[in-house]
Parts: sequence; C-alpha cells; structure tokens
Amino acid sequence: MKEDSPFTPGSPVPADLFIGREKTVKEILRYIGQTGSGKQENIFLAGDRGIGKSSLASFIRHLAVNEKNFIGTHVFLGGASTLEEVVRCALEHILKTSKTQNIYGKITDLFGDLRKYINEVGAFGISVSFNPPPEQLHHLVLNFADAISGILEKIKEEQKSGLILILDDINGLTETPDFANWYKSLTDHIATHYKDFPLLMILIGLPQLRDRLAEKQPSLMRIFRLVDIDRLSEGEVKQFFLNSFSKVNTKIQSDALDLMIKYSSGLPIFMQEIGDSIYWTDNDSFVDVKDAISGITVAANRIGAKYLDPKVYGAIRSKTYRAILRKLGEKIGKEKWADISNFKRKEIEKILDEEEKPNLDNFLKKMQDLGITIADLEGGVGAYTFTNQLYPIYIMIESLEHKKRVDGPLFEKVGKTSD
Ligand SMILES: Nc1ncnc2c1ncn2[C@@H]1O[C@H](COP(=O)(O)OP(=O)(O)O)[C@@H](O)[C@H]1O
Ligand SMILES: [Mg+2]
Repeated sequence: MKEDSPFTPGSPVPADLFIGREKTVKEILRYIGQTGSGKQENIFLAGDRGIGKSSLASFIRHLAVNEKNFIGTHVFLGGASTLEEVVRCALEHILKTSKTQNIYGKITDLFGDLRKYINEVGAFGISVSFNPPPEQLHHLVLNFADAISGILEKIKEEQKSGLILILDDINGLTETPDFANWYKSLTDHIATHYKDFPLLMILIGLPQLRDRLAEKQPSLMRIFRLVDIDRLSEGEVKQFFLNSFSKVNTKIQSDALDLMIKYSSGLPIFMQEIGDSIYWTDNDSFVDVKDAISGITVAANRIGAKYLDPKVYGAIRSKTYRAILRKLGEKIGKEKWADISNFKRKEIEKILDEEEKPNLDNFLKKMQDLGITIADLEGGVGAYTFTNQLYPIYIMIESLEHKKRVDGPLFEKVGKTSD
C-alpha cells in the first residue's frame, strides 16, 4: 500500500517542502522586521498562475508566526468583487486565526454589538463565520483602519509582534475602482492617525492586474514594495524532487531525474504534477526512466487539459490549423524523447498537404502569439522552441487521441488491447 503522496499539485506547498526563493524571503523578512517596529508595510506580490505566489506567502506566514512571534492570516479572495466582501473575509479570517492563538476572547470582545454576527461552526466550534448585515459591513469598510487598530492593541497586550494580513487572489477586485481608492485612503489614514501600527499587508495577484491597478491609481503603487516571482532554477527543482521523494524513501535514477527536471521547465505547478504522477506510477521505490516517462506523460495530459486546451485548442478554431497541429504532434511522437522541444519550419512543411502548406506561416505566427513557441535563435532561421517542455508532449498526446477517435482504438491495431 502506498502512503500519501508528498506532492501537492494545486495547493500551497507545506513549509518543509518549500524550495528556493531565498533572496525574496530574505527581502520580505526585512519588511517584517520594519513592521515589528511599528511601521505599517505593504507588499504587492505578483507572478503568473502556478508560479508559487500563494506558497511563498504561506511560507512567509509560517516563518513570521513561528520565528518572529507574529499573528498571520491568509485570506483567499478569489470570489470577492466588493469591498464589503474583502472586509468581511479579512475579519472572519482574523477571528479564525485568533482562535488557534488563544486570543479569541479578547478579539471577539472588540466586536461589541457585532458579536452576535459571529458564529462558531464545525465540530467543536473550531471554525468561525462572521456575517454582519450590509449596513454594518459598510460601516466596517469605512472604519477598517480603526477596527484593525483595536485588534493590534490586543495583539500587543499578548506580547505579539504584530499582524500579517495576506489578501490572496485579489484579481476580481482590481476591476473595481473603489478598491484602489479604498486601499489608498486606508494607508493614508493609518499614516496620519497612528504612530505605532505593526501591520503588514501582502496583496497577491497577476502581474497584468497589478499593472492595470498602477494605471488606474498611480499614487497607490508608490506605497507598495513590489515583489515579483518567476521560475525556479534547475538546481532548485532538482533539490525539490530529491527532498520530496526521500520523504517517502524513494530513490531516483539520475537519467530519470534529468527528465523530470527538464519537463518541469522551472514551473512549480509542473514540478508538482510530474512528481505526483510519478509517485503513483512507481511501484518499487525506485524511479527509473520508464517510470519518469510514463509519469511525465500523465502529467502532461493533466496539465494540457487544465492549461493548454483552453489556450490552444480553444483559440485555434481553424480546421487547417488544427490539422497542422496534429501533424506536428505526429512528428513529435516519432522524435527521440530528448529532442522534442524544438522543431524547424521546413520539417513541418515536408509533412503537410498542398492545401495546408500555404497556411503554415500564419499557423506558426499564431503559435507564437499564443505564447506556445518562440523563435529559436540558436537553431537558425525557421527554428522554434516550445516555451514550455510539456506543451510538445501534450500536442503529441492530443494527436494520438485524435487518431484514436478517427481510426479506432490505437492499441487494438497493435494487438495490445486490454478490454
Ligand atoms: N517554492 C515552492 N516549492 C515547492 N512547491 C511549490 C513552490 N511554490 C509553489 N509550489 C507548488 O506549485 C503549485 C502552484 O503554487 P501556488 O502557490 O498555488 O501558485 P500561485 O499562487 O502563484 O498560483 C502548487 O502545487 C504548490 O504546491
Ligand atoms: Mg495562488
């Protein structure tokens, strides 16, 4: 029987398997130090989907709580599009967190008349909900700084260093102009009314949305420390696989490890999907090349369905383009596993029909516009590289699946059918 997988595709990584980002962590710890001495700080953490923003924030919270004596709360605002919802979620999460930190009584006292809208839910009343009516909520939106100030007083009475409030996935909010204005006047109010305000707020969103916020409200962005995160290095991905597999007493053959690193392309989300698929594929606590290849294929399929299908197959409606993409997939299927990340225009042209050929250049341009390939400068004119190593695998799988739909099950033909 297999134990639980050490991998966490789709949710923030636990602190003990968090890898890399040392410089960024150090930088943020410096801001936490400032916060501890009473200065209100604001960080905007930006990066693409799946790059590891929530994981970094969660790791920072872990450090701040365990090593710097802070209270930390991480709020996911995915569905929120109003200030009322932000404030409600933030206060609800602070209540939840205070419950685990033994300051719950003190914090709820602060809520005064609003206490009747706090409910303990779940087994043993472990979780908390906070649902005040609209007019009260509106009042809290306008007086958020004062509400937080009261909470900070209680936190200080408990000899804690301060509060870290992480507002994650604010993407729905950047569209509402109120948000920028509210945030700006919140920090202005704090700066002019309070001398000691040990609060660090970390806002998390996509880089495009941060840029849009900056356009709408340039003076807002000046209050933020901007932190951007990007791909992990090969060395970090390697260390991640070694750490995670050693947790479940599994060894990795070095060629297999090279493939796993290559196909992760430095993207944490890919690294997790690949690790998880391989974990469930391997059955002798030794990951060899065969395990790696079948795990990577499963991961590519999963990732393709989640990220690439909408982006590529959804965007490429033209029948001719799709036919070209499938031929590209067939060609990839015939390559050696190690050389599938590049291709040349003239090799594709060779395998196209007469009516497909005139569309090839537009097809190649479309692939570049969609961010799937880039010109491979080292490969010379007409050479392309996939921006992500799993794209070619997915394109190959899609073309095989398509062939299966058209020609009947693939394995029947080679006499390997199992059902
Ligand atoms: N530094 C890291 N070390 C290990 N795994 C990570 C790291 N950063 C992210 N991950 C993993 O990558 C995936 C995406 O991370 P997440 O933090 O949810 O990204 P984002 O919030 O940017 O969309 C998750 O499965 C997470 O467990
Ligand atoms: Mg996230």
